[in-house]
Amino acid sequence: MAERVVVLAGEADVAGFRDAARGLLVDGVAPERVEWQVRSRADGDLFADAPVEPPSAAPAAPSPTVRVPAFFVPLCERAALHADPNRFGLLYRLLWRLVHEPALRDDPLDPDRMSVEQMARTVRREMHKMTAFVRFRPLPSTGEGGAALQHVAWFEPAHHIVEATAPFFARRFAQMHWAILTPERCVRWDGTGLVYGPGARREDAPPADAAEQLWLTYYANIFNPARLKVAMMEKEMPRRYWKNLPEAALIHPLSASSAERSHRMVEKAASEPSRRRPAASTALRVDQRPVGAHAPGSLPALFDATSYCRECPLGALATQVVNGEGPAQAQLMLVGEQPGDREDLRGRPFVGPAGQLLDRALAALGWPRDALYLTNAVRHFKYELRGQRRIHKTPAQQEVAACLHWLESEIALVAPQAIVALGATAARALLGRPVAVMKERGRWLARADGLRVLVTLHPSALLRMPPDERDAAFERWLEDLRQAGTNFSATPLLQ
Ligand code: URA
Repeated sequence: MAERVVVLAGEADVAGFRDAARGLLVDGVAPERVEWQVRSRADGDLFADAPVEPPSAAPAAPSPTVRVPAFFVPLCERAALHADPNRFGLLYRLLWRLVHEPALRDDPLDPDRMSVEQMARTVRREMHKMTAFVRFRPLPSTGEGGAALQHVAWFEPAHHIVEATAPFFARRFAQMHWAILTPERCVRWDGTGLVYGPGARREDAPPADAAEQLWLTYYANIFNPARLKVAMMEKEMPRRYWKNLPEAALIHPLSASSAERSHRMVEKAASEPSRRRPAASTALRVDQRPVGAHAPGSLPALFDATSYCRECPLGALATQVVNGEGPAQAQLMLVGEQPGDREDLRGRPFVGPAGQLLDRALAALGWPRDALYLTNAVRHFKYELRGQRRIHKTPAQQEVAACLHWLESEIALVAPQAIVALGATAARALLGRPVAVMKERGRWLARADGLRVLVTLHPSALLRMPPDERDAAFERWLEDLRQAGTNFSATPLLQ
């Protein structure tokens, strides 16, 4: 029968264990005479109780120093968080033996030492997995003040790691107000401090949201069937985490079709390796560009090649590549700047607000959209994150230059009779020189290869105008576009 019973304040009460163990050592109480228990926490409302800070490391009264090897302290801090109910007994036995058997300090193969080290490793791995697999979901705005919760995640750790891992999230998401709910402990960050509370239920966390759809689209797009290694994937992302990972629902369908998709990739004609383009200032003039020389031989081959493009940093940030669309032999091509947020999610050009304005103009002109070829100077969405919003950023000249060979290949394949450049980025890419849109708008300009280009405003420029100027600007824009439909040759381009 145990001579001493130690009741710790909670499963993660490492400081309580340290204090108790120090006292027991000083009193000379052998491990087999100690029983370790953990007080169960009362159920209650999430975070309704007074803030419970992780137990303080300071003992109530100073106790005599006990010398232990340096390696024991960090080892104990991690192993004490293991789910094994016997861990405190094991840790105290190892501590006792380290104090009473000095030779043990140099015996890494001792079974107690090895067990504790294995526990610490498991806990460290679980903490790492928590930092990787927690997925926050936004809460609908309550209109409350600044401290209102904004994001909540549900996670089911296998060990008692919430308190030990929470500081990582406080540093990483310092500007957000978030909570992580787990069955045993919850933690909340209000921008200034971490507050812990009792466990929660899965239903307390919010359901999936629109941002999750974005993540799933991205995941499906970066999934490379030829790289699928199921055993490796399950090692990195063990199955027990899958039920709380939105992307896990895609793993089965994506991996089921991977053999067939890889086969299709192998069957396809090889595409030319992508070439780096010089920066804009040193870009080749239009007549010097090797259009078609190394270009993919068809639009599908071109699109296939663009989907792997990493010639500038934008490809890695965007959800997917957005290529042009329209008849392969369209007579008129319209070139914009780059896909926006909507286009990035849907993988199609001009489907967001700027596209809607363009559709209005086409309707006013009586031009069927599906008679035109619509594309962009840059194929990936460039943005800046502000909170959860992705704000459009104008592409840099190097990014436009890096993307130019895709546009030129597209032009060579579609071979339109004329092109409309929507805005300065498209005009500069197409003409190979800076273009003052307001000065040069509405008239035909010729490229060195003979192809005619008509420059006009980008629809987003109209959207940004003050409302009282928009109608007149829209009419003026229609006049520019009308030129492109009729004034080019004897045969109107769109009939
Ligand atoms: N703006 C563009 O330039 N292109 C699009 O596809 C959408 C918005």
